[in-house]
This record gives sequence, C-alpha cells and structure tokens, in this order.
Amino acid sequence: MTALGDLLGPPLLCPVKILFAATIAVHYSRLSIMYQFTRLPPLTLYIHFPWCVRKCPYCDFNSHEVRGELAEPAYIDALLADLEQELPRIWGRSVSSIFMGGGTPSLFSASSIDRLLSSLRARLTFAPNIEITLEANPGTVEQQRFAEFHAAGINRLSIGIQSFQDTQLEHLGRIHNGKQAICAVEAAHKAGFDNFNLDLMFALPGQSKQSAKNDLQTAIDLSPSHISYYQLTIEPNTLFHTHTPVLPNDELAWAMQCEGQAHLDGAGYTQYEISAYAKVERQCRHNLNYWQFGDYLGIGAGAHDKITDMAQQTITRCWKVKHPDAYLSNAATEQRIAGSRTLSQDDTTLEFMLNTLRLTHGFNNELFQQHTGLPLSSIEAAMQEAESKGWLVRNRGCIQPTEEGQRFHNDLVTLFLPA
Ligand SMILES: C[S@@+](CC[C@H](N)C(=O)[O-])C[C@H]1O[C@@H](n2cnc3c(N)ncnc32)[C@H](O)[C@@H]1O
Ligand code: SF4
Repeated sequence: MTALGDLLGPPLLCPVKILFAATIAVHYSRLSIMYQFTRLPPLTLYIHFPWCVRKCPYCDFNSHEVRGELAEPAYIDALLADLEQELPRIWGRSVSSIFMGGGTPSLFSASSIDRLLSSLRARLTFAPNIEITLEANPGTVEQQRFAEFHAAGINRLSIGIQSFQDTQLEHLGRIHNGKQAICAVEAAHKAGFDNFNLDLMFALPGQSKQSAKNDLQTAIDLSPSHISYYQLTIEPNTLFHTHTPVLPNDELAWAMQCEGQAHLDGAGYTQYEISAYAKVERQCRHNLNYWQFGDYLGIGAGAHDKITDMAQQTITRCWKVKHPDAYLSNAATEQRIAGSRTLSQDDTTLEFMLNTLRLTHGFNNELFQQHTGLPLSSIEAAMQEAESKGWLVRNRGCIQPTEEGQRFHNDLVTLFLPA
C-alpha cells in the first residue's frame, strides 16, 4: 500500500502534529471549481508556550528547556502584541474555545495566565460557553496553583501523564513519577476541575499488553472526563530517533490499541477520534474543531493558524517564528511571521480529508461544503474507490472511516491526492 507518510511523515497522532503535516504543500492541479463559502466555520484560538523543565527524548513539539529565569511577563506581552496584529483577520467573529498548549503552559504563574485571559477578554468576543483548556505537567503544579488557574477562568485541564509506571516514566525522561502523577490529578479534582483530560501513551519501550491495561485502569479510576491514548511514535529530530529503544511491534501495538478501545468503552469513554475518548458531552471542543476543519488563530512561538476569508473566498495558513528568543524580539512586527500560504482547492480537499477521516463519525455533505467551499461531487470518484477497498462507508448521510480505514488512515487519505 502507498504510504501517505512518504509525503506527510510518520503516523500523526496529536492534533498539533496534524497541523504541521497539513502545512506541507502538495502541488498539482485537478479541477477548477470555484470556492463558494456561504458561511464561516467556527473560530478557536491556540496559544503556544514554548518552554519545559526538560526536553523529553521522544518529543518533537516546539519546546525548549528553560535556562535561567522564565521570560514570563515579556512572553505575555509578546502574545498580546502578536494578537493585536492578527485582529483584522478575525474581525467580528466570536471565539468558541481557547487552548493553551506547549511546551508546558503550567510553568507560568496563575497571575500571568490571569493577565493574559483578562486582556483576551478585552480584545475578543468569547462565546457564552467558551471552553478554555490549559496543558499541565505533573511536577509543575500543586493544588494552590490549579485553584488559581481555575479562578482565572481556565475551565478545562489537559494533564500529561504518559504512564503511571516509574520505570516507563524514567525511560521517557519525564520529571515526575507515578505517585506524583496521581497526586496532580487529585489536586485538579480538589481545585474544582470537573472537566479534564489525561494524556497516556502506549506501545512504550518493552511494554506488555497487561502493563498498558494497568495504566489505562489507573487513569479510569481517577475519573477524568476525557482520555487521549496515543501510540508512541518515533519522530525525526528527537533523541529516540537517534537512539531508538526496543518498542512493541506493529501487531502488538495494534492489539494494545484495540484492547484499550474496548477497555475504555466498557468504562464509559467513547472513542470519537483515532486517539481521543470522552464521557458523554465531554469531547474536547477545541480539538474537534481542528478535526472538523474549522478555523483557528494561532499566537505564540511556532503557532500555526488557518483562517477562511469570505470576502476573498480563500483559506490561508500562517505560522510564527519558532524560536522563543526570535519570537520575543519580533512579536510586534511582521517578522514574527515565518511563513504563510493560501490553500489551493486540491490542498483544501486533502487537508479536509486528513482531518475529518480521523473522526469516528467522519463528516457529512454540509460540513464538506461549508468548510471547503466545494461540492461533494468533487471527491465522488475517490470516495467510491475508498468504499471498494472497505475503508469508507456512507451511513445515514455521514461519510465514515471503517475500523480498517482508521487503522490505515494515511493510505485512505492518499486516495484523495490528485492522480
Ligand atoms: C503537546 S504534548 C505536551 C503536553 C505536556 N507538555 C506533557 O508532555 O505533559 C501533548 C501530548 O502529546 C503526546 N506526545 C508527545 N510526543 C509524542 C510522541 N512522540 N508519540 C506519541 N504521543 C506523543 C503526549 O501524550 C503529550 O502529553
Ligand atoms: S514536557 Fe511535553 S512538550 Fe515538554 S518536552 Fe516533554 S513531551 Fe514535549
């Protein structure tokens, strides 16, 4: 089978990674249907925090080890300067969710997060039931700080657990142990958070099915509203890429994924995306918007965005300079922008499929038309081919990946590349 990975890199598991992949331009021309956007998609805001206590050996996110004092006030000022420049691109639109991701946003003090949120409120229209998530690492937070984040307006946490087993956490270069991971979750509960996600990884070095299951059960016992269950992937430019540990083979990793899915389902966590499981009505609205190919503004070092322009009938992607020092020096100027591109119609189709086919329920005709501005007939031939391979089904108006389609997501999406 052809691997889309040849074009887009290794399997994509995190929303942020999808965004990076989606910025790879595919040059070709197929048809010349005109875009017709009649309504704008929902809009969200992503804010990147580029520092961590220590760099984990598997991580290819834009994260840098803190050296010396954290440039906290200067970074908040830079984020606000960046936002000021971007406001004309989203004028008049309301923001339905905010995601503070990293790096380690929980390294920042609650007073800085409070200042940031108050300034955002003064400049943006927040939707009435806005979801505001902050990523937190065990080892950087205690109950008091969680309580202050909550008081500042954070209403959802995403806690990076990875595993509860000390030996695994050591292999992964984490700064916390299993007990500290449990304490962090208990502290989040006590601080008043009833909506939080736990990130777990599986197919870890030397891991057995039973140990993966034990990690899941410990997570379930802590009653999060959401669990992200990622297969560890070896990314270029990481220490694990040069010194790769012995990992479970593909068959074992797939068995862990299937058994994990059944285990989570039995505990009331329904899978709605390849790696995302939620209790009823607790899906992550921010990530769902990425996977439904909605719009998002990105501020912060290395942040990416995607904005639809009704007047121009275009979709544009833009990304900021990655290095924190370069970002801090340039946040108020055009030099903060590392690149941008306007999507061709073929890019739009491919990126829509890359995102929506990660969702268990796929997409429908209305979403395709609204978020791509194109008619569904433009992908009819590729859909038929995917159906004939058993990777796609049409079910009561929804176009959905089958279990095989989800497993071979990259091959499925490849069918939507132009001939
Ligand atoms: C943006 S990262 C960082 C969150 C937070 N800084 C932390 O590590 O606790 C979000 C999640 O992506 C997952 N992740 C990072 N690198 C990964 C990799 N190489 N393979 C699979 N999942 C990965 C981890 O579960 C991590 O918690
Ligand atoms: S703490 Fe999270 S963002 Fe930072 S290096 Fe580790 S995995 Fe990457």
